[in-house]
Amino acid sequence: MLGSGRRDADPAHRSGLGSPIISARYAVDHDVAVITLDHPPVNGLSHETRVQLAAGIDRALADAAVRAIVVTGAHGMFSAGADIREFNSNKVAAAPSLDTLIRMVEASDKPVIAAIPGTCVGGGLELALGCHFRAASADAPIALPEVKLGLLPGAGGTQRLPRAIGLEAALNMIVSGASVPARRLRGTALFDAVVEGDALAAGIALARKVADENRPRRRLSEVTLREPNAEGFVQFARNTVGPMSKGYPAPMKCIDAVAAAVSKPFEEGLRFERALFIELLNTVESRALRHAFFAERAASRIPGLDENAPARPIERVAVIGAGTMGGGIAMSFANAGLAVTLVETRQDALDKGLATIKRNYEASVKRGRLDAKAVERNLGLLTPTLSLSDVASADLVIEAVFEDMDVKLGVFRALDAQAKPGTILASNTSTLDLDRIAAATRRPQDVVGTHFFSPANVMRLLEVVRGRKTGDDVLLSVMRVAKRIGKRPVVSGVCDGFIGNRMLEQYVRQALFLLEEGASPQQVDRALERFGFAMGPFRVSDLAGNDVGWAIRKRRYVEKPNVAYSRIADRLCELGRFGQKSGLGWYRYEPGRRDALPDPAVDALIADYRKELGISPRKIVEDEIVERCVYALVNEGAQLLDEGIALRASDIDVVYLAGYGFPRYRGGPMFHADTVGLYNVVRTMQRFASNPHGDPGFWRPAPLLARLATEGKTFNPE
Ligand SMILES: NC(=O)c1ccc[n+]([C@@H]2O[C@H](COP(=O)([O-])OP(=O)(O)OC[C@H]3O[C@@H](n4cnc5c(N)ncnc54)[C@H](O)[C@@H]3O)[C@@H](O)[C@H]2O)c1
Repeated sequence: MLGSGRRDADPAHRSGLGSPIISARYAVDHDVAVITLDHPPVNGLSHETRVQLAAGIDRALADAAVRAIVVTGAHGMFSAGADIREFNSNKVAAAPSLDTLIRMVEASDKPVIAAIPGTCVGGGLELALGCHFRAASADAPIALPEVKLGLLPGAGGTQRLPRAIGLEAALNMIVSGASVPARRLRGTALFDAVVEGDALAAGIALARKVADENRPRRRLSEVTLREPNAEGFVQFARNTVGPMSKGYPAPMKCIDAVAAAVSKPFEEGLRFERALFIELLNTVESRALRHAFFAERAASRIPGLDENAPARPIERVAVIGAGTMGGGIAMSFANAGLAVTLVETRQDALDKGLATIKRNYEASVKRGRLDAKAVERNLGLLTPTLSLSDVASADLVIEAVFEDMDVKLGVFRALDAQAKPGTILASNTSTLDLDRIAAATRRPQDVVGTHFFSPANVMRLLEVVRGRKTGDDVLLSVMRVAKRIGKRPVVSGVCDGFIGNRMLEQYVRQALFLLEEGASPQQVDRALERFGFAMGPFRVSDLAGNDVGWAIRKRRYVEKPNVAYSRIADRLCELGRFGQKSGLGWYRYEPGRRDALPDPAVDALIADYRKELGISPRKIVEDEIVERCVYALVNEGAQLLDEGIALRASDIDVVYLAGYGFPRYRGGPMFHADTVGLYNVVRTMQRFASNPHGDPGFWRPAPLLARLATEGKTFNPE
């Protein structure tokens, strides 16, 4: 609050067009002007906010009664920086640009003090760095996170931050994008005061003090950075960061820019930073990372549904089945502080499930991810039981029993009888028809799918399956609780495999055809790992268990006799080569190790199989491997959009980024196809269709893909 001596308080800028939306409030407290950034949700420095802030500075400079200027933020934060919605428009550079604004602040004759009550990141921190003095609340998160969007701080951050906190500390912050509380930077030239209490009051007090003492303005641009070992340190940073940032150009450019703070005069360094920023802004990688950022936010918006509509409260959860998934799901809720009742049919299964949960928690403690106290609290939130009637108090029940329709129907009938009215009944089924499950109850509107990924306490992706009768409020409630437990929820319609696994089946089918035609598992894995996947399909399959895919294929041979499947993986399974768990799979594994070692026995098996089919192997180039596997994802993704199973292309991207190790710097399969150009994707698919082994029928472009390619459009709106 400002003192009672406030003389006036109104928008820092008046627009000629009606009443302006105030995003930088101007007030005067006796002899100190206070400009408050007030642009919810994060005081982003949009064009309008910059205009108002600049007008506020001018006004304070023109007011003879004002001796000092304080810039602060509303909503308990300073500013989270540039408004990234402006990045793809020319508004981002519209005058006054952030750079101009910062220069204006720094050049001010009157002292400008940043009062930082909370979050001060990105352009927000760059603005604060342009001020002459800074007072911050000890807890305020301080960061330059641009690297996470494939960028670098482009408004002087790479030049001013090293001048405030030293080369090494600045480099660490800028290259990692990590946030640190202001208290950790106490004692550096970044902060003149770090306070436990009111940062604004501290800022105003500081303003008066510097005015009284007539302290010279401290302009970071005028500081010469002296670092005796700068060159050695920068080289060390390059050697360390280079191998860690494959595929991501921004981290190395961050190092280049920060290094310029030592090697170049300020203005030259600033120009260098600017050039690198623009270079990065136009890279596919940065566009992909920005796409991923927006895609994750968009995923929780459901067309026709008000994101903020009331939802059902969820405080108590019950999980049915304490197996692989049930245990992990129960942990996810307990970790977020929700009480969980864990239901099993047999004591030994319950004991086994709880023992696994305890072991997982112990492993987290060992790795330093959790402390013993948190584990105790989480375990205290779990109530194991053999009685299904204990679900009566639950607001949400998640069924994770065997993947068997009859078993599930039995469980849902029982839940219908036991759960209180309004309880949300969710199934974790991977393949079964949710609408049939819902029909087993008298409340299909309360039934929804929650498809967690294994290990459920670790994997962030959650497909929220909307049945034909799922209530809107049920869907909203599940989306909300998913976020509460730290998941990335994406809505999927009902179909076999939902979004992720249905697409994956086509990807794996192509990987297997590639083996038939001449590639080795190592070659396929290497190509897709070079493309950026965390793991290639054969290493993934060895990890998950080759028997899982085998069981699905056996079902497919009956259900879809017309779809071509390579039988090569079945041969592997017939030998009991189920992957890591059996020590042998597509690779061999040495006891206690996870390294995938090539196995001549697999090469022989593949060679025999080719002979049987009469195929003479050909050399397959990496591009073909990548394109066949990735475009298989794309075409099936387009099919899902056509069928309305996925709501938008960016949702598919989120599924693949959060759940399938798709490289984030490529933005997801649909965004990747957009960057290649859909016309080009279709042309390549037509080429694949002429290969008899590539499954010509499959390569017919999905109607949406065909249409967009013809119209020169993209899946994701530009
Ligand atoms: N394992 C995965 O990777 C994965 C991934 C996503 C989804 N799913 C799905 O999750 C569900 C569970 O899979 P899982 O791998 O955890 O299986 P699991 O065999 O490890 O566990 C199932 C558990 O359910 C218990 N159970 C069976 N009937 C029950 C009943 N009537 N009441 C209470 N408990 C009962 C069993 O005792 C067992 O402990 C399946 O629908 C599966 O398709 C599995």
